[in-house]
Amino acid sequence: MTATLVDRIGELVTNEPGGAEPLGIRRDVALVAVDGRVAWIGPAGSAPACDTHVDAGGRAVIPGFVDSHTHLVFAGDRSGEFAARMAGEPYTGGGIRRTVATTRAAPDTELAANLAYLQRELVRQGTTTFECKSGYGLDVEQEARQLRAARTVTPETTFLGAHVVPAEYEGRADEYVELVCGPMLDACAPHARWVDAFCERGAFDADQCRAVLTAGARRGLLPRLHGNQLGPGPGVALALELGAASVDHCTYLSDADVDGLSTSDTVATLLPGVEFSTRSPYPPARRLLDAGATVAIATDCNPGSSFTSSMAFCLALAVREMRLTPAEALWSATAGGAAALRRDDVGTLTTGARADLVVLDAPTYLHLAYRPGVPLVHTVVSGGEIAYR
Ligand code: NIG
Ligand code: FE
Repeated sequence: MTATLVDRIGELVTNEPGGAEPLGIRRDVALVAVDGRVAWIGPAGSAPACDTHVDAGGRAVIPGFVDSHTHLVFAGDRSGEFAARMAGEPYTGGGIRRTVATTRAAPDTELAANLAYLQRELVRQGTTTFECKSGYGLDVEQEARQLRAARTVTPETTFLGAHVVPAEYEGRADEYVELVCGPMLDACAPHARWVDAFCERGAFDADQCRAVLTAGARRGLLPRLHGNQLGPGPGVALALELGAASVDHCTYLSDADVDGLSTSDTVATLLPGVEFSTRSPYPPARRLLDAGATVAIATDCNPGSSFTSSMAFCLALAVREMRLTPAEALWSATAGGAAALRRDDVGTLTTGARADLVVLDAPTYLHLAYRPGVPLVHTVVSGGEIAYR
C-alpha cells in the first residue's frame, strides 16, 4: 500500500455534485490518496501519516484536466499554414493530407518520440487524462500503427480512419468507407476504445459517418463524432441518433441541435483552440449551457487546426471568448471531459476517484483565466504519484 498526503490546501475543487455551487469547493483541507485513489479528505492537521508528502502551501488544488480530444500521433509541422491563415487564408482541412504524407513516411521511432514529447507537455500543464485519435494514417497498416502507438500513452484511444478521404481514393469516397468499415476496423478495433469520424462537407457525409460508427459499434467501439465545425450540418443530429458520448466542435449549431443536446447525455465538446488558430467564430457555448446541455472543453491538439496542448489556455478562451464563467470553464475542462469519455473515476476529487490533481501556483482556480498564458502548474499528481513538480 502506498499513501500520499497533500496538505495545506487553501482551496480544493472537488467537483462533487449536489453542493451549493458546481465546483464543490472546500477550504483549508488535506487529501490522502491510497493506492492511487482518493481515500480521505478532511481538516488539515488530522490526516493520517503517509509515505509521500506534498505541501500545497495554501495554494489551490483542482482535479487534473481531462482533455477528451487530441490528435497526437503525427509527424511534421504546418506552421506555414498557420501563418497563411493569419494573413487571411481560410482553414479547410485540406492540410490533413499533408500531415498524412509526413506521418506515413516517419519511422516508428520518430512517431514514438513525438508522442512522448507531447505527452510530457500535456502532463506538465496539468492534464492527467487524455484521449488520442488515429487519423493521419488512412490505410490499414498505418491506422493500426497509429493506434498501437497511442495505446502506449493512454487507454482512451480513438479510431479515426474516417478523418478525410486519402489522396489515393480521391473521387472514390464510398470505396474508402468500405475499406474503413471492413479491413481497417478489423485491424484497428483491438487497439481502440472509441470510433470517430469527421462529418463535414469535404470529409464524410452523414450516411458515410453512420456506416463507420455502426461498423465500429459492432466491434465493441463506442461512438463519438467531429461535427458542425466548418458550417452547419448533420453531425450533431447523427451523434444524437447514435447515442454518441460526445459531438466535438459544435461551432455552427441550429436551434434543433441545441435543443437535442440539451435533452440528451451526448456531451457538446467545444475546442476553442481551433477557433483561435483558424480565426473562426467561437461556438455558441452560452446557448448550450443555458439550454442545459453538458459542455466539455478540450484542446483538439493537432498540427493543423489547433496546435496547443494547454487546457488552461482553452479554459481562458472559453471564459473570455465564449462567456463561460470561470467555474463553468473549469468544470467543463475536468468533469465535462470525464463525461465526454464516459469516465466516472476522473474529473472529480471525491473519495474513490483516481487521485489525479494539480496544485496551482495560485490561491484560487480563478487565476486560470485571470492570468492567461502564465504557467500556473506547481505540482501534478497522477494516480497518487507525483508526475511533475
Ligand atoms: O479536429 N476537423 C478535423 N480534424 C482536426 C484537424 C486536423 C488537421 O487539420 O490536421 C480537427 O480540427
Ligand atoms: Fe479533432
